[in-house]
Amino acid sequence: MPDILITENIRGAAVDAMSSRFDVVALPELWKDPAELLQRVGDFRALIIRNQTQVTAALLEAAKKLVVVGRAGVGLNNVDVEAATRAGILITSTPDQNAISVAELAIGMMLSMARMIPAADADTKQGNWNRQRFFGTEMYGKTIGILGAGKIGFLTAMRAQAFGMKVLAYDPFISEDSVLLSELSAELVPLEELLERSDVVSCHLPATKQTAGLLNAKCFARMKPTATLINTSRGEVIVEEDLIAALKSGAIAGAALDVRAKEPPKRGALEDLPNLVLTPHVAAFTHEAQDRVTKAICEDVCRVLDGKKAMNAVNRVPAA
Ligand code: MLT
Repeated sequence: MPDILITENIRGAAVDAMSSRFDVVALPELWKDPAELLQRVGDFRALIIRNQTQVTAALLEAAKKLVVVGRAGVGLNNVDVEAATRAGILITSTPDQNAISVAELAIGMMLSMARMIPAADADTKQGNWNRQRFFGTEMYGKTIGILGAGKIGFLTAMRAQAFGMKVLAYDPFISEDSVLLSELSAELVPLEELLERSDVVSCHLPATKQTAGLLNAKCFARMKPTATLINTSRGEVIVEEDLIAALKSGAIAGAALDVRAKEPPKRGALEDLPNLVLTPHVAAFTHEAQDRVTKAICEDVCRVLDGKKAMNAVNRVPAA
């Protein structure tokens, strides 16, 4: 009898080790076919996913033997956690394992925009030598505004500080005396103030009802015309049409997006903007982060199947 169903591209030594103990079925393209997934899920005690498999109430209802869903990553917007809790199904994730990689990409995006690296690269590869065209901006002495001061926001701010940047943070869930703020000498400010004072705004917010569309035309109007925006968290946080308008009108100077409102996105106006850097949701995709994520999720799923307590449970359900 099969035990564990993997519905996305998750592989490596930890999956091999798990397969030596449990019957694992890996179908990395299955997330693309929800009807097929609905048919098959009833056979399994565990499901391991990334961010593409939609774990809906209907899927959980069909998953009569399921005891655990392992989310290899942090964001839970593709998982109906409430429905899982009601069904007594544990959700476990990997909250810290890819944080360094995401923070490193955020910094990479910041520098890409400040020094126009993607544009200079493309231009130089055309055979040009346009030194005057690629006059950049130093980060030293500038201000970074961190939206969402969780682990990734903190690691991004730490790295920005090493460049000599001042740190502002907006996070409705932390208090003035947070260790995180004092370690960074960061100032906790309201969203409006952060937008007005920052030279770089880096978004690290999850997709929730409260954050959906949070960054819209009104926000872009508050930002400095020289400011840039980075999003390595979730696309839903930004109203993309408003961002397009802000980048076209010069309300802000540039943006870098690793995530989009709909993924994979259709080609549209964003792709034609010269002051925008785009990557395909790869912030967590480094060898190191994925080794850590895969190991952590496989170990936690095995723990649950062995009747032990999960290390990174997201919800609370009665013991199986
Ligand atoms: C995460 O939420 O862990 C990252 O965005 C990567 C992913 O969604 O798999």
